[in-house]
Amino acid sequence: MPVPAGTSLSIQVRAKAVLTNDFQHVLFRLNRNGLVVWRSGYDTARYESPLKNLARRLDQLGAIALALLYVTQDCRLAQIWNSTLEIYRTFAAPILFLLPAEAAHRLSIWALKLGLVPGARQKQVGILATEFCGLPLPNPIGLAAGYDKDCEIPGALLGLGFGFVEAGTVTPRPQPGNPKPRLFRLVEDGAVINRFGFNSRGHDEFSNNLDDWRASNGTGLVGVNVGKNKDSEDAAADYVAGVRRFAGVADYLVVNISSPNTPGLRDLQSKARLEKLTVAVIKARDDAAAKSDDGRRCPLLIKIAPDLDESALEDIAEIALQNSIDGIIATNTTVARPPGLRDAAASETGGLSGRPLFEPSTRLLGDLYRLTGGNVPLIGVGGVFTGRQAYEKILAGASLVQIYTSLIYRGPGAAPRICAELAECLIADGYAAVSDAVGASHR
Ligand SMILES: Cc1cc2nc3c(=O)[nH]c(=O)nc-3n(C[C@H](O)[C@H](O)[C@H](O)COP(=O)(O)O)c2cc1C
Repeated sequence: MPVPAGTSLSIQVRAKAVLTNDFQHVLFRLNRNGLVVWRSGYDTARYESPLKNLARRLDQLGAIALALLYVTQDCRLAQIWNSTLEIYRTFAAPILFLLPAEAAHRLSIWALKLGLVPGARQKQVGILATEFCGLPLPNPIGLAAGYDKDCEIPGALLGLGFGFVEAGTVTPRPQPGNPKPRLFRLVEDGAVINRFGFNSRGHDEFSNNLDDWRASNGTGLVGVNVGKNKDSEDAAADYVAGVRRFAGVADYLVVNISSPNTPGLRDLQSKARLEKLTVAVIKARDDAAAKSDDGRRCPLLIKIAPDLDESALEDIAEIALQNSIDGIIATNTTVARPPGLRDAAASETGGLSGRPLFEPSTRLLGDLYRLTGGNVPLIGVGGVFTGRQAYEKILAGASLVQIYTSLIYRGPGAAPRICAELAECLIADGYAAVSDAVGASHR
């Protein structure tokens, strides 16, 4: 069935589910990319009982199969699988969510390593191509630090449609992190609590992985997020070691002083300590540039917590401006527990990410943009699930946006979906480029 450019046809099929005695809606959309399963009827955010959900999934599959019979006369069956998001929700998420959270995370890394996860099929949308610290990016949506801590799969992650990937946090020496369990899903809240505590295989293994990937003609933007060992007596020395080690190979570097799971780490955000640390890491970066063949000064960013008060944020803005820090990532996870959390796991110790973080982290991002007068490039991260939320971060002052928790809930189709929605938002408001919208809510 030929579909003219710019048009799409929606077909809704209602099928009686067998196991749960419910009705299942399947909405297909036909456009020039083919036929995609656009929506299906059950609320995938509710995993109240594994058995019930399994029954629902089976029903869902049955309903989709039945619906296919109605709508595929003129469409190639293979095109159904265009929507990785729906496939994840339908098949992979129920299986992954039956596993303990950390095991599911390892399984997903393994699947990506083996190439078992289909890459993004959507073409890049021209309006999303952008630049950060002089680096060109196909789109402003990146994967935040903590998913690929040891830089095992940067290529596979870029292949999911991310404009850039931040690997790490990597510590100088290998360390196991905190005892398990240390990762908890708050399904009812669309959130996660983690207290990993920088489990890392250390600089050497990380560096080998990154080198191997680059040597295999890996292209795409990869940032390296560096941290300190738990038992280190000299935090600044650990960060300096990370900067020295990766300044020549990272597209950008992040000094992570905001993870809540390493004792004393966030104290590095205080004015006196941050000033000292900033001077030390900038010197290490500049020394590395002077010794390199091309003299490239690797962009150096700091990553801050959402739990800072106004005066701490003022200090950080001042230090960033005075020392010409290349950018700030706002924010890491929060130690706060916003009212209204429903999931029992909310009482776990650790950093909270996901939906409940969106509002406080976006507010802090906006404050930071105001305090720096828009003169320090910002990366907004915290609770982004949709393109509209990414757009809100950009309007508040983010030049780029990162996600993590929504990847857990929405699966490998998350980045392309957010990109498509973001492009729609920009176009609807008459912007020709992402950079035109940065900080627009302050004007
Ligand atoms: C399981 C998990 C591990 C994380 N590990 C790191 C880390 O090692 N370094 C870091 O800077 N941030 C880490 N983060 C924080 C994320 O990079 C991000 O700042 C935070 O989760 C907020 O974004 P989100 O709401 O989209 O997840 C981690 C987050 C999660 C959920």
